Amino acid sequence: MAVSEAPLLAAAARRPAPVTPIWFMRQAGRYMPEYRALRERHTLLELCAQPELITEVTLQPVRALGVDAAILFADILLPLVPMGLDLGFVAGEGPAIANPVRTAHDIASLRAVDPEADLGAVLSGIRILSGELPPHVPLIGFVGGPFTVGTYAVEGGPARQALEAKRMMHAAPELWHALMQKLTVALGDFLVAQVRAGARVVQLFDSWAGLLDAHDYRTHALPYSRAVLERVADLGVPRIHFGVGASHLLPAMRETGAEVLGLDWRTSLDEGWASVGPDRAVQGNLDPAALFAPLPELRRRVDRILERAAGRDGHIFNLGHGILPGTPVDHVRAVVDYVHERTAG
Ligand code: CP3
Repeated sequence: MAVSEAPLLAAAARRPAPVTPIWFMRQAGRYMPEYRALRERHTLLELCAQPELITEVTLQPVRALGVDAAILFADILLPLVPMGLDLGFVAGEGPAIANPVRTAHDIASLRAVDPEADLGAVLSGIRILSGELPPHVPLIGFVGGPFTVGTYAVEGGPARQALEAKRMMHAAPELWHALMQKLTVALGDFLVAQVRAGARVVQLFDSWAGLLDAHDYRTHALPYSRAVLERVADLGVPRIHFGVGASHLLPAMRETGAEVLGLDWRTSLDEGWASVGPDRAVQGNLDPAALFAPLPELRRRVDRILERAAGRDGHIFNLGHGILPGTPVDHVRAVVDYVHERTAG
């Protein structure tokens, strides 16, 4: 198959694809026995620090599931480490930052990131993967949106209500904008470096953007997401933009320029696509919990999404958020096969 015929690239460009391409956010992870086996010996940050392990974990779901894309194994919070934050992952709780960013001094102390020197393991992983992946399975590189990464940096842990981040935005907007500017440079440089290393698609995860109303989103998040995505606009890679619980923001999110907008599962795919506009592709949007349903019910839920896509060019099948721990691997595989069967030819 020629490189340009990868189903994911065709769909991202709203060209006819041989099948509806499908991949899953968080397709590598604890629901897979082969991932758990590696995690017994290495922490998450150790996995992300070794190109061979990054490569192995990225390839696990490609082998096991037959998906149409590989997503680089890394985390949106990794760039915070070379910036000077003391990041760890606490089992069962998620990310924890020992020295969250709260003051002008904290922001001024954040170091600039040199992707090659500071995040070189990830870039080496991309170079290895580019040689190993078949041409019809493009590698997706990613960064978090400055808003989401910044919210973690200020909160020091899971965003929940993003109260500390919003406190900074409201009480000291100049601090928030200074933080956003630093993150925009670091994340933009890192994304450009990923594309130069061989990522063929990029995704900007602005997972917590849905916590903002449209006015705050436009003031405190959108300009920075747009600036990050503009950095790769001329590099020939489709750009996917995704947020959770963000259907009220879709018309604003399209202003980032992303070619593909991710829809979470609360929005019906046809309504989400209507707010995104017919000149963009969409990605989504099965409820991650549906993967636990008995197979006939799971298939009906897949059918409903495909009906809403109505055979239009430009649909990338995915979940409405990441795969949950405990998801049955055979159900994930069944969805891949079913989407391919239903949409072939
Ligand atoms: O397979 C993939 O999708 C690629 C790798 C990937 C990870 N994190 C690995 C990971 C990607 C794309 C991410 C993105 C990410 N990380 C997001 C955006 C997407 C989303 O889910 O909204 C966010 C918000 C994070 C921050 C983060 N990292 C959280 C909240 C957690 C803890 C929650 C959890 O699922 O455990 C992580 C840890 C993390 N990142 C794991 C993985 C596989 C679990 C790690 C483990 O314990 O092995």
